[in-house]
Amino acid sequence: MRVLIVYYTQSGNTQRIAEQIAKGARKAGAEVTLLRLKRVNYEMFDDYDLIGFGSPTWKADTPNMHAFIDKMPMQNGKHCFAFNTHGTLPHLYFPIVIPYLKARGLLPIGYRGWYGDVNMPGMPKPYYTFGHPDEQDLAEAMAFGQEMAENSRRIAAGETDLIYPDPEMNDKVFEQAMICSNMLLCPTNPQGAFLRDPEKCRYPKCHLCMDNCTMGYIDLSREPQVFGNRGDRCDDCHECSYCFMICPFGAIYTEDPNQFEKDKGIRHKNFEVMLDRDEAEGTFRRHIPADEVGFDTPYIYWHPQRPYLKVPKENE
Ligand SMILES: Cc1cc2nc3c(=O)[nH]c(=O)nc-3n(C[C@H](O)[C@H](O)[C@H](O)COP(=O)(O)O)c2cc1C
Ligand code: SF4
Ligand code: SF4
Repeated sequence: MRVLIVYYTQSGNTQRIAEQIAKGARKAGAEVTLLRLKRVNYEMFDDYDLIGFGSPTWKADTPNMHAFIDKMPMQNGKHCFAFNTHGTLPHLYFPIVIPYLKARGLLPIGYRGWYGDVNMPGMPKPYYTFGHPDEQDLAEAMAFGQEMAENSRRIAAGETDLIYPDPEMNDKVFEQAMICSNMLLCPTNPQGAFLRDPEKCRYPKCHLCMDNCTMGYIDLSREPQVFGNRGDRCDDCHECSYCFMICPFGAIYTEDPNQFEKDKGIRHKNFEVMLDRDEAEGTFRRHIPADEVGFDTPYIYWHPQRPYLKVPKENE
C-alpha cells in the first residue's frame, strides 16, 4: 500500500510528528512519501491509497491546508487521516477539519493531535506547552501511523467499524469556540500589520519570505512587488507573522514598534484552567509549572537576534 503524508510546519513541531507517523506507517509495511504542502499537487493523489494531512492549529483551523483541501477535486472515498499539533486550544480543530475533508469526497479513517511548543512573537517564552512534542508524543505518533496504515488496509477489505467516529461536539469544543470567538471574528491580525522595508531587503539575493509565505502572499519578482494580503503589507487574520520571524535581515517590521510590549507580563488564566483540567484527565503533560512560563519574556524578547526563527530543514 502507498501512503502520502502532506504536512505544513512553521517551527518544526508538525514535521517531527509527521516523520514519526511516516515511520509507523512504514512499520506496517506501507511505502510512504512525506511531503510539505507546497510540494504537493492533486494529480499525485492518484498514486496513493491513503493520504495523511497534518498542520499546526491556527484559530482552531489550518488556513493554507484548508484552502488546499477546498480546491481539491472530488476524491471518491479515498482514505485519509488528519493530524495536528497545537498550543493551548486542542479541542476545536477536528470538528472543523474532518467535515471539510469529507466534503471533498475523502473518507477520514482517523485523526489525532499533539501538544506543541508555541513560537509567536508576542507569546510567552517558555510557553505553557514547552517541551512538546516530547518522547511520548513521538512514540504515540509512530503508533498512530502504524494504526492508520493497518486500518486502511483492513477497511479496504470491508472492516468499516475501524473508522473513527466523528469528533464529538462536547463541552470542551464549545468552551474553546467561546475562547476563540474574538479571534475568529477579528478580520485583521491582532498583532497589527507587517511591512517590508525595501532598503533593508536583500531580494533577489534573498527570497526566503517569498519561498515560505504561509498563504502565498509574497511575490517580489513582480513589478510592482507584492508583499502580504494587502499588496504592500500583511494583516491576514490568522495571526501569522512567519515572514517577520524568518527574515534574516530585519527587513520586515510591525506597524507599531511597541506592538509586543502590550503582551508582556500577561498571564493567560483561561489557558491555565483548561491545561489544569487536561493534565488531570491525563491528556496534557506539563514540562514546566505555570509559574515558570515566560510572562515577562515574549518570544522576541527571549530571542532578540534575527532571524527570530529558522525555517526547519526537510529531512526527507
Ligand atoms: C499564527 C499562529 C496561530 C496559532 N493559533 C493557535 C490556536 O488558535 N490554537 C492553538 O492551540 N495553538 C495555536 N498556535 C500554536 C501552534 O498550533 C503550535 O505551536 C504548533 O505546534 C506549531 O506547529 P509547527 O511547529 O509545525 O509550526 C498558533 C501558532 C501560530 C504561529
Ligand atoms: S526574507 Fe527579508 S531580506 Fe529576504 S526577501 Fe524577504 S524581506 Fe527581503
Ligand atoms: S505574515 Fe508574512 S508569511 Fe504570514 S501570510 Fe502574511 S505575508 Fe505571508
